[in-house]
Amino acid sequence: MGTLHVLDHPLIQHKLAILRDARTGVKEFREIVGEIAALMCYEATRDLPTEEVEIQTPVAPAKVRVLAGKKLAIVPILRAGLGMVDRMITLIPSAKVGHIGLYRDPETHRPVEYYCKLPGDISERRVFLVDPMLATGGSAAAAIGFLKEHGCRSITLMNIIAAPEGIEVVRSAHPDVDLFVAAVDERLNEHAYIVPGLGDAGDRIFGTK
Ligand code: PRP
Ligand code: URA
Repeated sequence: MGTLHVLDHPLIQHKLAILRDARTGVKEFREIVGEIAALMCYEATRDLPTEEVEIQTPVAPAKVRVLAGKKLAIVPILRAGLGMVDRMITLIPSAKVGHIGLYRDPETHRPVEYYCKLPGDISERRVFLVDPMLATGGSAAAAIGFLKEHGCRSITLMNIIAAPEGIEVVRSAHPDVDLFVAAVDERLNEHAYIVPGLGDAGDRIFGTK
């Protein structure tokens, strides 16, 4: 069974408080989504394998450790997942980026696919699937399904806020997937929005409504 990691570091909690605040404007919201994504990426990549290599410092030869093992990919679920990508790439610049476009049908709350473009060698990569919100879990479960159809076997899901319902859906559909979240909120409301949540992540990142 994949592990659920709740990243309640004080810096993340503080930044999340700003995201949740309805008074926070688009510019600050977007910046902080990126900052939280970077902090979460730092933790989610903690188990990446390394190998020893020998280099020469200006002073002496040195045995140092560098990343080894599978190459990496970041896959945002459009739109809101895009807000997490740039700051993650600054930490793992060799990662390739795929895109999965899904929106929730406003009536059924079920995900509707409209785009999927993944690196050709995605099946050989360790994938970080990113989306700020895990509500019913429908979008994340569907996106993980697409990745598996493309041969991916090593998938980590990263969400900033998750509802207990969404965690349950993802974990029962995809028990092999590790999940990193910054907060587990109380519940979903009648519109399948996370309570207390932060509202519509895509609208708040891109200033739409
Ligand atoms: C939001 C969010 C997730 C999805 C979560 O996207 O970014 O992708 O809802 O909900 P779920 O867990 O119930 O599937 P949305 O459908 O609003 O699309 P957008 O990012 O284009 O605004
Ligand atoms: N999508 C969002 O952006 N926010 C929610 O609370 C639920 C789904």
